[in-house]
Amino acid sequence: MIKINMYLMLCGIIGLVVSFGCSDDDGENRNKTALVAPTLNNATDISANSFTVTWEAVDGANGYLIDVATDQRFGQMVEPYNSWRQNAISLKVENLDPSTDYYVRVRAMMGMEVSGNSNVISLTTLEEVDTEPEEPLKSAATTFSVGVALSADRISSGSHAKLYEREFNQVTAEWEMKMNITYPRPGEFDFSKADKIVDYAIANDMGIHGHALIWHNAVPSWVESFSGTNEEFEAMIKDYITTVVTRYKGKVKSWDVVNEAFEDNSGELRNSVFRRKMGDDYIAKCHQWVRDADPEVKIFYNDYSMTFDKKKQQSTFNMADDFKSRGVPLDGLGFQMHISYNWPNTNDIEAAVQKVIDRGLLLHFSELDVRVNPDNGISSLTPQRAIEQQKKVEEVVRIYNAIPQANKFALTVWGLKDDESWILYFWDNPDWPLLFNADFSPKEAHTGFLQGLKD
Ligand code: G3I
Repeated sequence: MIKINMYLMLCGIIGLVVSFGCSDDDGENRNKTALVAPTLNNATDISANSFTVTWEAVDGANGYLIDVATDQRFGQMVEPYNSWRQNAISLKVENLDPSTDYYVRVRAMMGMEVSGNSNVISLTTLEEVDTEPEEPLKSAATTFSVGVALSADRISSGSHAKLYEREFNQVTAEWEMKMNITYPRPGEFDFSKADKIVDYAIANDMGIHGHALIWHNAVPSWVESFSGTNEEFEAMIKDYITTVVTRYKGKVKSWDVVNEAFEDNSGELRNSVFRRKMGDDYIAKCHQWVRDADPEVKIFYNDYSMTFDKKKQQSTFNMADDFKSRGVPLDGLGFQMHISYNWPNTNDIEAAVQKVIDRGLLLHFSELDVRVNPDNGISSLTPQRAIEQQKKVEEVVRIYNAIPQANKFALTVWGLKDDESWILYFWDNPDWPLLFNADFSPKEAHTGFLQGLKD
Protein backbone atom coordinates (compact mmCIF):
# COMPACT_ATOMS: atom_id res chain seq x y z
CA MET A 1 0.00 0.00 0.00
CA ILE A 2 2.75 2.31 0.98
CA LYS A 3 4.40 1.63 -2.39
CA ILE A 4 1.16 2.67 -4.21
CA ASN A 5 0.93 5.84 -2.09
CA MET A 6 4.54 6.67 -2.79
CA TYR A 7 3.89 6.12 -6.56
CA LEU A 8 0.79 8.32 -6.49
CA MET A 9 2.65 11.08 -4.60
CA LEU A 10 5.53 10.86 -7.11
CA CYS A 11 3.04 11.23 -10.06
CA GLY A 12 1.49 14.17 -8.33
CA ILE A 13 4.85 15.83 -7.86
CA ILE A 14 5.80 15.13 -11.50
CA GLY A 15 2.34 16.39 -12.60
CA LEU A 16 2.90 19.58 -10.62
CA VAL A 17 6.37 19.98 -12.09
CA VAL A 18 5.02 19.34 -15.59
CA SER A 19 2.13 21.76 -15.18
CA PHE A 20 4.32 24.51 -13.59
CA GLY A 21 7.12 23.71 -15.98
CA CYS A 22 4.80 24.30 -18.93
CA SER A 23 3.36 27.52 -17.75
CA ASP A 24 4.69 30.89 -18.67
CA ASP A 25 6.76 32.89 -16.31
CA ASP A 26 3.69 34.76 -15.34
CA GLY A 27 1.62 31.57 -14.97
CA GLU A 28 -0.42 32.27 -18.05
CA ASN A 29 -1.83 29.35 -20.01
CA ARG A 30 0.54 28.63 -22.98
CA ASN A 31 -2.44 28.09 -25.33
CA LYS A 32 -3.42 31.78 -24.99
CA THR A 33 -1.31 33.90 -27.48
CA ALA A 34 1.02 36.50 -26.00
CA LEU A 35 0.66 38.56 -29.23
CA VAL A 36 -1.74 41.46 -29.40
CA ALA A 37 -3.33 42.37 -32.72
CA PRO A 38 -1.74 45.30 -34.61
CA THR A 39 -3.49 48.67 -34.87
CA LEU A 40 -3.93 49.72 -38.48
CA ASN A 41 -3.58 53.40 -39.50
CA ASN A 42 -5.70 54.90 -42.24
CA ALA A 43 -4.41 54.34 -45.75
CA THR A 44 -2.18 57.02 -47.29
CA ASP A 45 -0.81 57.87 -50.77
CA ILE A 46 -4.03 56.65 -52.33
CA SER A 47 -3.89 56.70 -56.14
CA ALA A 48 -6.00 55.10 -58.86
CA ASN A 49 -4.05 51.86 -58.59
CA SER A 50 -2.35 51.76 -55.20
CA PHE A 51 -2.29 52.84 -51.57
CA THR A 52 0.00 52.52 -48.60
CA VAL A 53 -0.99 50.98 -45.29
CA THR A 54 0.95 51.20 -42.03
CA TRP A 55 0.48 49.93 -38.50
CA GLU A 56 2.17 50.11 -35.11
CA ALA A 57 4.79 47.45 -34.40
CA VAL A 58 3.64 44.71 -31.99
CA ASP A 59 5.98 43.74 -29.12
CA GLY A 60 7.51 40.35 -29.80
CA ALA A 61 6.24 40.09 -33.36
CA ASN A 62 8.68 39.02 -36.06
CA GLY A 63 6.30 39.20 -38.98
CA TYR A 64 2.86 40.24 -40.12
CA LEU A 65 0.11 38.78 -42.30
CA ILE A 66 -1.82 41.28 -44.40
CA ASP A 67 -5.24 40.66 -45.98
CA VAL A 68 -6.73 42.93 -48.65
CA ALA A 69 -10.24 42.32 -49.92
CA THR A 70 -12.97 44.08 -51.86
CA ASP A 71 -15.59 43.22 -49.26
CA GLN A 72 -15.84 43.81 -45.51
CA ARG A 73 -16.13 40.07 -44.76
CA PHE A 74 -12.86 39.41 -46.64
CA GLY A 75 -14.64 36.92 -48.88
CA GLN A 76 -13.13 38.38 -52.08
CA MET A 77 -9.44 38.57 -51.33
CA VAL A 78 -7.13 40.56 -53.63
CA GLU A 79 -4.19 38.39 -54.69
CA PRO A 80 -1.44 38.29 -53.69
CA TYR A 81 -2.61 40.15 -50.55
CA ASN A 82 -4.18 37.08 -48.97
CA SER A 83 -2.19 36.46 -45.78
CA TRP A 84 0.65 38.33 -47.43
CA ARG A 85 3.62 37.77 -45.12
CA GLN A 86 6.25 40.44 -44.41
CA ASN A 87 8.36 41.88 -41.59
CA ALA A 88 7.98 45.62 -42.30
CA ILE A 89 5.18 47.61 -40.67
CA SER A 90 4.09 49.26 -43.89
CA LEU A 91 3.02 47.95 -47.27
CA LYS A 92 2.34 49.63 -50.62
CA VAL A 93 -0.58 47.70 -52.11
CA GLU A 94 -0.39 47.91 -55.92
CA ASN A 95 -2.00 46.81 -59.19
CA LEU A 96 -5.45 47.76 -57.97
CA ASP A 97 -8.51 48.92 -59.86
CA PRO A 98 -9.45 52.61 -59.92
CA SER A 99 -12.56 53.90 -58.12
CA THR A 100 -12.83 50.66 -56.07
CA ASP A 101 -13.48 50.06 -52.34
CA TYR A 102 -10.80 48.06 -50.53
CA TYR A 103 -10.65 46.63 -46.98
CA VAL A 104 -7.46 45.81 -45.08
CA ARG A 105 -6.62 43.90 -41.89
CA VAL A 106 -3.34 42.67 -40.37
CA ARG A 107 -2.25 39.99 -37.92
CA ALA A 108 1.01 39.80 -36.00
CA MET A 109 3.20 36.70 -35.98
CA MET A 110 5.74 35.35 -33.54
CA GLY A 111 7.14 32.06 -34.78
CA MET A 112 4.11 29.79 -35.20
CA GLU A 113 1.89 32.07 -33.14
CA VAL A 114 -0.56 34.42 -34.88
CA SER A 115 -2.48 37.23 -33.20
CA GLY A 116 -6.09 38.07 -33.79
CA ASN A 117 -7.08 40.43 -36.59
CA SER A 118 -6.40 44.15 -36.39
CA ASN A 119 -9.07 46.77 -36.86
CA VAL A 120 -10.28 46.88 -40.49
CA ILE A 121 -9.62 50.03 -42.53
CA SER A 122 -11.31 50.82 -45.83
CA LEU A 123 -10.52 53.19 -48.69
CA THR A 124 -11.56 53.93 -52.24
CA THR A 125 -8.95 54.23 -54.96
CA LEU A 126 -8.99 57.41 -57.07
CA GLU A 127 -10.55 57.60 -60.50
CA GLU A 128 -8.29 56.68 -63.39
CA VAL A 129 -6.22 59.62 -64.71
CA ASP A 130 -6.45 59.98 -68.43
CA THR A 131 -3.12 58.82 -69.82
CA GLU A 132 -3.70 60.21 -73.30
CA PRO A 133 -1.26 63.00 -74.30
CA GLU A 134 -3.04 66.14 -73.20
CA GLU A 135 -3.99 69.05 -75.40
CA PRO A 136 -1.50 71.92 -75.24
CA LEU A 137 -2.68 74.68 -72.92
CA LYS A 138 -2.41 77.40 -75.55
CA SER A 139 -4.66 75.43 -77.93
CA ALA A 140 -7.32 74.89 -75.28
CA ALA A 141 -7.29 78.51 -74.05
CA THR A 142 -8.89 80.22 -77.02
CA THR A 143 -9.79 83.54 -75.38
CA PHE A 144 -6.60 84.51 -73.55
CA SER A 145 -2.84 83.96 -73.71
CA VAL A 146 -1.16 81.26 -71.65
CA GLY A 147 2.19 82.50 -70.39
CA VAL A 148 5.20 80.96 -68.73
CA ALA A 149 8.09 82.50 -66.82
CA LEU A 150 11.39 81.49 -68.35
CA SER A 151 15.08 82.39 -68.60
CA ALA A 152 17.61 82.79 -71.38
CA ASP A 153 19.48 79.65 -70.32
CA ARG A 154 16.40 77.50 -70.27
CA ILE A 155 15.28 78.45 -73.79
CA SER A 156 18.62 77.05 -74.96
CA SER A 157 17.72 73.62 -73.58
CA GLY A 158 15.84 71.40 -76.04
CA SER A 159 13.47 69.89 -73.49
CA HIS A 160 12.49 73.28 -72.11
CA ALA A 161 12.07 74.90 -75.51
CA LYS A 162 10.01 71.98 -76.80
CA LEU A 163 7.49 72.37 -73.98
CA TYR A 164 7.54 76.19 -74.07
CA GLU A 165 6.67 76.08 -77.76
CA ARG A 166 4.07 73.32 -77.41
CA GLU A 167 2.17 74.68 -74.41
CA PHE A 168 2.50 78.48 -74.29
CA ASN A 169 1.94 81.53 -76.50
CA GLN A 170 3.34 84.19 -74.16
CA VAL A 171 6.50 84.51 -72.09
CA THR A 172 7.70 86.52 -69.10
CA ALA A 173 11.38 86.82 -68.19
CA GLU A 174 11.52 85.38 -64.69
CA TRP A 175 14.38 87.72 -63.72
CA GLU A 176 16.41 88.83 -66.76
CA MET A 177 14.43 91.91 -67.75
CA LYS A 178 14.65 93.50 -64.32
CA MET A 179 16.74 96.57 -63.59
CA ASN A 180 19.43 94.71 -61.63
CA ILE A 181 20.16 92.67 -64.77
CA THR A 182 19.57 95.20 -67.58
CA TYR A 183 21.21 98.20 -65.86
CA PRO A 184 24.02 96.75 -63.75
CA ARG A 185 26.27 99.83 -63.76
CA PRO A 186 25.72 103.58 -64.13
CA GLY A 187 25.06 104.39 -67.77
CA GLU A 188 25.85 100.79 -68.77
CA PHE A 189 22.96 98.65 -69.99
CA ASP A 190 23.18 94.89 -70.52
CA PHE A 191 20.36 93.60 -72.72
CA SER A 192 22.07 90.35 -73.70
CA LYS A 193 19.70 88.07 -71.77
CA ALA A 194 16.62 90.18 -72.41
CA ASP A 195 17.35 90.28 -76.14
CA LYS A 196 17.74 86.50 -76.22
CA ILE A 197 14.34 86.01 -74.61
CA VAL A 198 12.64 88.62 -76.83
CA ASP A 199 14.19 87.20 -80.00
CA TYR A 200 13.19 83.64 -78.99
CA ALA A 201 9.61 84.68 -78.33
CA ILE A 202 9.29 86.53 -81.62
CA ALA A 203 10.81 83.61 -83.53
CA ASN A 204 8.19 81.34 -81.97
CA ASP A 205 5.25 83.70 -82.37
CA MET A 206 4.88 84.20 -78.64
CA GLY A 207 3.79 87.41 -76.92
CA ILE A 208 6.23 89.00 -74.48
CA HIS A 209 5.14 90.45 -71.17
CA GLY A 210 7.82 92.77 -69.79
CA HIS A 211 8.62 92.20 -66.12
CA ALA A 212 9.49 94.38 -64.24
CA LEU A 213 10.86 97.87 -64.79
CA ILE A 214 10.68 99.09 -61.18
CA TRP A 215 10.85 96.63 -58.24
CA HIS A 216 12.38 97.23 -54.83
CA ASN A 217 13.77 93.67 -54.89
CA ALA A 218 15.68 94.10 -58.17
CA VAL A 219 17.49 97.40 -57.71
CA PRO A 220 21.14 97.55 -58.81
CA SER A 221 23.37 98.43 -55.88
CA TRP A 222 24.53 101.64 -57.56
CA VAL A 223 20.90 102.80 -57.77
CA GLU A 224 20.16 101.83 -54.17
CA SER A 225 23.13 103.93 -53.06
CA PHE A 226 22.64 106.70 -55.62
CA SER A 227 24.75 109.70 -54.55
CA GLY A 228 23.25 112.42 -56.78
CA THR A 229 20.33 114.71 -56.05
CA ASN A 230 16.72 113.54 -56.14
CA GLU A 231 16.25 115.44 -59.39
CA GLU A 232 19.24 113.61 -60.89
CA PHE A 233 17.81 110.29 -59.61
CA GLU A 234 14.45 110.98 -61.22
CA ALA A 235 16.10 111.95 -64.50
CA MET A 236 18.13 108.72 -64.40
CA ILE A 237 15.01 106.59 -63.83
CA LYS A 238 13.17 108.40 -66.63
CA ASP A 239 16.08 107.75 -68.96
CA TYR A 240 16.27 104.09 -67.91
CA ILE A 241 12.55 103.52 -68.50
CA THR A 242 12.59 105.38 -71.81
CA THR A 243 15.66 103.43 -73.01
CA VAL A 244 14.24 99.99 -72.16
CA VAL A 245 10.69 100.58 -73.40
CA THR A 246 11.92 102.18 -76.61
CA ARG A 247 14.27 99.26 -77.25
CA TYR A 248 11.43 96.75 -77.15
CA LYS A 249 8.70 98.94 -78.63
CA GLY A 250 6.49 96.86 -80.90
CA LYS A 251 7.99 93.64 -79.46
CA VAL A 252 7.11 93.79 -75.76
CA LYS A 253 3.36 94.44 -75.86
CA SER A 254 2.87 94.89 -72.11
CA TRP A 255 4.91 95.81 -69.04
CA ASP A 256 4.73 95.38 -65.32
CA VAL A 257 5.97 98.92 -64.84
CA VAL A 258 6.01 98.95 -61.02
CA ASN A 259 5.92 95.70 -59.06
CA GLU A 260 4.80 95.24 -55.43
CA ALA A 261 4.71 98.90 -54.35
CA PHE A 262 2.47 98.36 -51.29
CA GLU A 263 3.39 96.85 -47.94
CA ASP A 264 1.77 93.60 -46.80
CA ASN A 265 -1.25 93.91 -44.51
CA SER A 266 -1.06 97.68 -44.17
CA GLY A 267 -1.34 98.70 -47.80
CA GLU A 268 1.10 101.53 -47.07
CA LEU A 269 3.38 102.58 -49.90
CA ARG A 270 6.73 100.77 -49.45
CA ASN A 271 9.52 103.14 -48.54
CA SER A 272 11.63 102.07 -51.53
CA VAL A 273 14.46 104.13 -52.94
CA PHE A 274 12.06 105.17 -55.71
CA ARG A 275 9.59 106.60 -53.25
CA ARG A 276 12.26 108.20 -51.12
CA LYS A 277 13.89 109.98 -54.05
CA MET A 278 10.94 110.60 -56.40
CA GLY A 279 8.13 111.14 -53.92
CA ASP A 280 4.84 109.29 -53.31
CA ASP A 281 3.69 109.87 -56.88
CA TYR A 282 6.61 107.95 -58.40
CA ILE A 283 4.35 105.22 -59.80
CA ALA A 284 2.32 107.71 -61.85
CA LYS A 285 5.54 109.28 -63.15
CA CYS A 286 6.85 105.87 -64.28
CA HIS A 287 3.56 105.00 -65.99
CA GLN A 288 3.62 108.28 -67.89
CA TRP A 289 7.19 107.77 -69.06
CA VAL A 290 6.28 104.32 -70.37
CA ARG A 291 3.31 105.76 -72.24
CA ASP A 292 5.45 108.55 -73.69
CA ALA A 293 7.93 105.95 -74.96
CA ASP A 294 5.33 103.58 -76.40
CA PRO A 295 1.75 104.76 -77.03
CA GLU A 296 0.54 101.18 -77.66
CA VAL A 297 2.11 99.17 -74.89
CA LYS A 298 -0.21 97.87 -72.14
CA ILE A 299 0.72 99.26 -68.73
CA PHE A 300 0.19 96.95 -65.73
CA TYR A 301 0.61 97.31 -62.00
CA ASN A 302 1.55 93.89 -60.53
CA ASP A 303 1.41 92.60 -56.95
CA TYR A 304 0.92 89.48 -54.82
CA SER A 305 -1.70 88.60 -52.17
CA MET A 306 -4.17 90.67 -54.16
CA THR A 307 -7.02 88.21 -53.58
CA PHE A 308 -6.81 88.14 -49.78
CA ASP A 309 -4.70 91.02 -48.39
CA LYS A 310 -7.61 93.42 -48.19
CA LYS A 311 -5.49 96.45 -47.21
CA LYS A 312 -3.07 95.96 -50.10
CA GLN A 313 -5.99 95.27 -52.42
CA GLN A 314 -7.75 98.48 -51.34
CA SER A 315 -4.61 100.57 -51.80
CA THR A 316 -4.21 99.16 -55.29
CA PHE A 317 -7.80 99.89 -56.29
CA ASN A 318 -7.59 103.39 -54.74
CA MET A 319 -4.51 103.99 -56.88
CA ALA A 320 -6.28 102.68 -59.98
CA ASP A 321 -9.25 104.97 -59.31
CA ASP A 322 -6.94 107.93 -58.67
CA PHE A 323 -5.02 107.24 -61.88
CA LYS A 324 -8.25 107.10 -63.83
CA SER A 325 -9.43 110.41 -62.36
CA ARG A 326 -6.07 112.06 -63.18
CA GLY A 327 -5.60 110.48 -66.62
CA VAL A 328 -2.50 108.56 -65.50
CA PRO A 329 -2.01 105.62 -67.89
CA LEU A 330 -3.00 102.23 -66.46
CA ASP A 331 -4.37 99.40 -68.61
CA GLY A 332 -4.40 96.48 -66.25
CA LEU A 333 -3.62 94.83 -62.93
CA GLY A 334 -1.48 91.77 -62.37
CA PHE A 335 -2.57 89.38 -59.63
CA GLN A 336 0.53 87.25 -59.12
CA MET A 337 -1.44 84.25 -57.71
CA HIS A 338 1.30 82.63 -55.65
CA ILE A 339 -1.22 80.43 -53.84
CA SER A 340 -1.59 77.07 -52.12
CA TYR A 341 -3.65 73.99 -52.88
CA ASN A 342 -6.08 74.89 -50.10
CA TRP A 343 -6.01 78.71 -50.09
CA PRO A 344 -7.17 81.38 -50.83
CA ASN A 345 -10.82 80.46 -51.03
CA THR A 346 -12.86 80.79 -54.19
CA ASN A 347 -15.01 83.64 -52.89
CA ASP A 348 -12.00 85.83 -52.11
CA ILE A 349 -10.53 85.25 -55.55
CA GLU A 350 -13.83 85.96 -57.30
CA ALA A 351 -14.52 89.10 -55.24
CA ALA A 352 -11.11 90.57 -56.05
CA VAL A 353 -11.45 89.70 -59.72
CA GLN A 354 -14.83 91.42 -59.83
CA LYS A 355 -13.27 94.69 -58.59
CA VAL A 356 -10.95 94.66 -61.59
CA ILE A 357 -13.83 93.96 -63.95
CA ASP A 358 -15.87 96.77 -62.37
CA ARG A 359 -13.04 99.18 -63.24
CA GLY A 360 -12.83 98.06 -66.85
CA LEU A 361 -9.19 97.04 -66.43
CA LEU A 362 -7.33 94.11 -67.95
CA LEU A 363 -6.58 91.30 -65.52
CA HIS A 364 -3.40 89.24 -65.66
CA PHE A 365 -3.02 86.21 -63.43
CA SER A 366 0.66 86.87 -63.77
CA GLU A 367 2.69 84.39 -61.68
CA LEU A 368 0.55 81.35 -60.87
CA ASP A 369 2.07 78.60 -58.78
CA VAL A 370 0.25 76.38 -56.29
CA ARG A 371 2.15 75.20 -53.20
CA VAL A 372 1.16 71.69 -52.14
CA ASN A 373 3.31 71.58 -49.03
CA PRO A 374 2.83 74.90 -47.21
CA ASP A 375 2.81 73.15 -43.82
CA ASN A 376 5.72 70.86 -44.60
CA GLY A 377 3.52 67.86 -43.95
CA ILE A 378 4.60 65.73 -46.90
CA SER A 379 8.00 64.63 -48.19
CA SER A 380 6.83 63.65 -51.66
CA LEU A 381 4.00 64.75 -53.92
CA THR A 382 1.33 62.31 -52.78
CA PRO A 383 -1.40 61.26 -55.26
CA GLN A 384 -4.01 62.87 -53.04
CA ARG A 385 -2.17 66.20 -52.85
CA ALA A 386 -1.60 66.11 -56.62
CA ILE A 387 -5.35 65.78 -57.11
CA GLU A 388 -6.00 68.64 -54.68
CA GLN A 389 -3.54 70.81 -56.62
CA GLN A 390 -5.32 69.82 -59.83
CA LYS A 391 -8.63 70.98 -58.38
CA LYS A 392 -7.13 74.32 -57.26
CA VAL A 393 -5.60 74.97 -60.67
CA GLU A 394 -8.93 74.08 -62.28
CA GLU A 395 -10.71 76.53 -59.98
CA VAL A 396 -8.31 79.39 -60.75
CA VAL A 397 -8.45 78.78 -64.50
CA ARG A 398 -12.24 78.49 -64.39
CA ILE A 399 -12.50 81.84 -62.59
CA TYR A 400 -10.18 83.51 -65.08
CA ASN A 401 -11.85 81.94 -68.09
CA ALA A 402 -15.23 83.22 -66.92
CA ILE A 403 -14.32 86.93 -66.83
CA PRO A 404 -15.59 89.16 -69.66
CA GLN A 405 -13.49 89.10 -72.82
CA ALA A 406 -12.87 92.83 -72.45
CA ASN A 407 -10.93 92.15 -69.23
CA LYS A 408 -8.97 89.13 -70.44
CA PHE A 409 -5.23 89.35 -71.03
CA ALA A 410 -3.27 86.27 -69.95
CA LEU A 411 -2.76 83.59 -67.34
CA THR A 412 0.94 83.03 -66.70
CA VAL A 413 2.46 80.17 -64.73
CA TRP A 414 5.57 81.08 -62.80
CA GLY A 415 7.90 78.49 -64.23
CA LEU A 416 7.72 75.25 -66.19
CA LYS A 417 8.59 72.37 -63.88
CA ASP A 418 8.54 71.78 -60.15
CA ASP A 419 12.27 71.54 -59.47
CA GLU A 420 12.89 74.99 -60.99
CA SER A 421 10.40 76.93 -58.89
CA TRP A 422 11.56 79.86 -56.78
CA ILE A 423 9.37 78.42 -54.05
CA LEU A 424 11.86 75.64 -53.39
CA TYR A 425 14.53 78.05 -52.26
CA PHE A 426 12.25 80.72 -50.84
CA TRP A 427 10.62 78.34 -48.34
CA ASP A 428 12.54 75.72 -46.39
CA ASN A 429 10.39 72.76 -47.23
CA PRO A 430 10.07 70.69 -50.40
CA ASP A 431 7.27 71.57 -52.78
CA TRP A 432 5.86 70.77 -56.20
CA PRO A 433 4.06 73.99 -57.25
CA LEU A 434 3.94 73.91 -61.05
CA LEU A 435 2.26 72.04 -63.93
CA PHE A 436 5.10 69.74 -64.93
CA ASN A 437 7.21 67.22 -63.08
CA ALA A 438 10.98 67.57 -62.92
CA ASP A 439 11.18 65.05 -65.79
CA PHE A 440 9.07 67.39 -68.01
CA SER A 441 6.02 65.08 -67.81
CA PRO A 442 2.65 66.80 -67.25
CA LYS A 443 1.10 66.56 -63.78
CA GLU A 444 -2.53 66.34 -62.73
CA ALA A 445 -2.25 70.12 -62.35
CA HIS A 446 -1.86 70.36 -66.13
CA THR A 447 -5.08 68.37 -66.47
CA GLY A 448 -6.69 70.77 -64.01
CA PHE A 449 -5.74 73.72 -66.22
CA LEU A 450 -7.48 72.07 -69.20
CA GLN A 451 -10.50 71.14 -67.10
CA GLY A 452 -10.79 74.77 -65.97
CA LEU A 453 -11.24 75.78 -69.59
CA LYS A 454 -14.23 73.51 -70.17
CA ASP A 455 -17.66 75.08 -69.75
O1 G3I B 1 20.72 81.01 -62.54
C1 G3I B 1 21.63 81.92 -61.94
C2 G3I B 1 22.91 81.21 -61.56
O2 G3I B 1 23.55 80.78 -62.74
C3 G3I B 1 23.81 82.15 -60.78
O3 G3I B 1 24.95 81.47 -60.36
C4 G3I B 1 23.02 82.66 -59.56
C5 G3I B 1 23.84 83.61 -58.72
O4 G3I B 1 23.76 84.91 -59.28
O5 G3I B 1 21.84 83.37 -60.01
C6 G3I B 1 20.97 82.50 -60.70
O6 G3I B 1 19.87 83.25 -61.12
C7 G3I B 1 18.98 83.57 -60.07
C8 G3I B 1 17.59 83.14 -60.55
O7 G3I B 1 16.58 83.57 -59.63
C9 G3I B 1 17.50 81.63 -60.69
O8 G3I B 1 17.62 81.05 -59.44
C10 G3I B 1 19.00 85.08 -59.89
O9 G3I B 1 20.24 85.46 -59.32
C11 G3I B 1 17.89 85.49 -58.95
O10 G3I B 1 17.81 86.91 -58.85
C12 G3I B 1 16.55 84.99 -59.51
O11 G3I B 1 15.53 85.32 -58.57
C13 G3I B 1 14.27 85.62 -59.15
C14 G3I B 1 13.63 86.69 -58.27
O12 G3I B 1 12.31 87.01 -58.75
C15 G3I B 1 14.46 87.97 -58.28
O13 G3I B 1 14.51 88.49 -59.59
C16 G3I B 1 13.39 84.37 -59.18
O14 G3I B 1 13.91 83.44 -60.10
C17 G3I B 1 11.98 84.74 -59.58
O15 G3I B 1 11.11 83.61 -59.45
C18 G3I B 1 11.44 85.85 -58.68
O16 G3I B 1 10.19 86.21 -59.20
C19 G3I B 1 9.45 87.17 -58.42
C20 G3I B 1 8.73 88.08 -59.39
O17 G3I B 1 9.67 88.74 -60.20
C21 G3I B 1 7.85 89.06 -58.65
N1 G3I B 1 6.90 88.36 -57.79
C22 G3I B 1 7.54 87.46 -56.84
C23 G3I B 1 8.40 86.44 -57.57
C24 G3I B 1 9.02 85.47 -56.59
O18 G3I B 1 9.92 86.14 -55.76
